[in-house]
Amino acid sequence: MARTQHQYICNSCGNITMKWAGKCDACNEWNTITEEIIEENIPKGLNIAKNKGRTLKFELLANKEKKKIDRNLTGNNEFDRVCGGGLVSGSALLIGGDPGIGKSTLLLQISCSIAYKNQRCIYVSGEEAIEQIRLRAERLGLLDSPVELASATNVRDIIASMEDKDNPVSMMVIDSIQTMYVDIVDSAPGTVTQVRACTLELIRAAKKQNVTLLIVGHVTKDGQIAGPRVLEHMVDTVLYFEGDRGHQFRILRAVKNRFGPTDEIGVFEMANEGLIEVSNPSELFLAQRQSEAAGSSVFAGLEGTRPVLVEVQALVVESPYATPRRQVIGWDSGRLAMIMAVLESRCGIHMSASEVYLNIAGGIKINEPAADLAVAAALISAHTGKPLPEGAIFFGEIGLAGEIRQVAQAEARIKEAAKLGFETAIIPNLPKGKKNQRKIKSSLKIKQLKHVQQLPDIF
Ligand SMILES: Nc1ncnc2c1ncn2[C@@H]1O[C@H](COP(=O)(O)OP(=O)(O)O)[C@@H](O)[C@H]1O
Ligand SMILES: [Mg+2]
Ligand SMILES: [Zn+2]
Repeated sequence: MARTQHQYICNSCGNITMKWAGKCDACNEWNTITEEIIEENIPKGLNIAKNKGRTLKFELLANKEKKKIDRNLTGNNEFDRVCGGGLVSGSALLIGGDPGIGKSTLLLQISCSIAYKNQRCIYVSGEEAIEQIRLRAERLGLLDSPVELASATNVRDIIASMEDKDNPVSMMVIDSIQTMYVDIVDSAPGTVTQVRACTLELIRAAKKQNVTLLIVGHVTKDGQIAGPRVLEHMVDTVLYFEGDRGHQFRILRAVKNRFGPTDEIGVFEMANEGLIEVSNPSELFLAQRQSEAAGSSVFAGLEGTRPVLVEVQALVVESPYATPRRQVIGWDSGRLAMIMAVLESRCGIHMSASEVYLNIAGGIKINEPAADLAVAAALISAHTGKPLPEGAIFFGEIGLAGEIRQVAQAEARIKEAAKLGFETAIIPNLPKGKKNQRKIKSSLKIKQLKHVQQLPDIF
């Protein structure tokens, strides 16, 4: 029995409601809710007693024939690492990001490297004509790659082309999922229903044929089309491409991975020849740093398994307004407010009447609490106008009582700083004991702090 039903779906998070609203209750985004009509085939009622299922065959946890996961290396080290050590055949990846960030460029590069390995690779674009893709390939110097191109949007056709026993497909790129449609669903391409149905069909076919599926999903601010978040639970791996248009750096971040660690990042530089791997991001992020300027500190951070040094910049100026401005780029604004409150109440540093700006240089976003100490140092330096000691790096979390707490992987952070020629590491106090102290032994001078009150003394 078919029944038509109206429902309202949020294009940002996929939440379904029975009533329209200006703001989504689930994700708090505005103007993202659209109406969709769904034809539902409602069964008369599954009679469990009559139609018995078949008995499942259970297996033991310990498996005698160990099956190793097959990894397909693309040769692009940054991309391979973010995927957890290469692509897993038969897995589905979603690559999300703002339009124009470089998703098509990256995937064309990846497709070509797989095709160069004599594996069959198909690149399906619903957005660009083949001639346009050729132009890009020419600019990237990849015209001689045996990658196969198609300009198509009908998922039924795409799946039919995937099934080729004589010449099996190894990898397929769908650029982008918001342009695709399946003809059994009434909604327009780009709606939540359509995007989900297409993804489901594509994944099902890809798993059957053991094809690695790479799906591009645009992130949209205005909520006109369904965002990649509504697909996150369907795929094995979710990668987001970040960075702002004003910077040449692009960061690929794994936010979900069934075959590897998350939070791993890959750093690229957008150039005329495409996305170039950046194997030493710290060097790049610190390249234009002016160490003699007040308000600049260096944070020894950790992105996934890799230590990365970044510059924290703070500016504190007198405010002409009753409610001074606070602007944070690349960090959490709630966390900045907390650090300022701690500095005020525990160290007597008053910034509440000043405008405060905080910027993580290079366009990278940091979400580690370990950056607290570097932020506090930059704020104090900006407030007093005194530059921080040259060649110092910081890491450590700050608690509400002003205590400085330990963070993970102190060793790796210090090692990276030593590699780049830094001289002093200002870090949380480690518990006494030979083992702990030996861990952080290095060519750097180590200063261990217990409380933020000790921070003004380092100048
Ligand atoms: N001729 C060119 N020279 C250099 N960079 C270009 C050129 N054409 C496009 N780009 C860069 O490529 C970006 C578009 O990348 P693209 O892979 O199409 O993004 P997406 O697929 O994420 O929308 C542009 O923002 C621009 O920075
Ligand atoms: Mg594109
Ligand atoms: Zn929502």
